[in-house]
Amino acid sequence: MNTESNQIKPNHIAIVMDGNGRWAKKRNMPRVAGHRAGVKALRKLIEHAVKIKLKAMTVYAFSRENWQRPEKEVGLLMDLFMTALQSEVKDLHKNNVRLKFIGDKAAFSDKLQVAIADSESLTASNSGLSLNVAANYSGRWDITQALQSIGQELEAKTINAKDIDESLINGKLSLANNDEPDLFIRTGGEQRISNYLLWQIAYTELYFTDTLWPDFDSVQLDGAIEWFSSRQRRFGKTSEQIEQGNI
Ligand code: IPE
Ligand code: IPE
Ligand code: MG
Repeated sequence: MNTESNQIKPNHIAIVMDGNGRWAKKRNMPRVAGHRAGVKALRKLIEHAVKIKLKAMTVYAFSRENWQRPEKEVGLLMDLFMTALQSEVKDLHKNNVRLKFIGDKAAFSDKLQVAIADSESLTASNSGLSLNVAANYSGRWDITQALQSIGQELEAKTINAKDIDESLINGKLSLANNDEPDLFIRTGGEQRISNYLLWQIAYTELYFTDTLWPDFDSVQLDGAIEWFSSRQRRFGKTSEQIEQGNI
């Protein structure tokens, strides 16, 4: 399915890739098999995002709260990040994708931190899809680290309290260099944010689907984009104002 050229398309899609465990359970497979299938689904969606010339995609791979899962699952997820990164980074680079990890990277093993840094620097000057992977991410952590940075500037007296405005805060957040997501997608049937991009989704359109992440494919992504195109984004104004082109 092709979205028509006169339809408004999202520039930046944020995705909560949820439902891997249930996908595996339904098949009597271990949870890690669901995570592996989830990586495959992501790979295909990235290819599709490149094809449709999406500007940015931010995917939730691991939340700060996910450390509370059984040690074995966390360990297998870390191994999976490492192997996926090692096997995919060349192709991503070839496809002109700029890769960035958002979240508290210091918690990862040295080896993983090096692989992350290498993948980011290899792809830093690419001009195609901006792919942000949220790993050890939490929206509250993001706001907290921004406030710490502002606090340091206050202490150093390089800024005054009255200099703190939305644009200063925004500039300190993980996605400072991206437009705000205009479409948020959560697979797996839950209708919650789970501490994802709290500040950045103030006016994002929210799309929830029961499809489990490993089954979410390009047709479903196109469906979500089509749904987005049918939304009237008012940003606090009235429908009449929007219809009169007073945007
Ligand atoms: C999302 O799938 C992947 C991660 C959180 C790492 P889940 O593992 O949460 O899958 P369900 O929700 O248990 O089905
Ligand atoms: C959110 O999914 C995090 C990721 C998809 C990485 P969870 O499965 O951790 O969310 P909750 O616990 O159901 O809210
Ligand atoms: Mg889940």
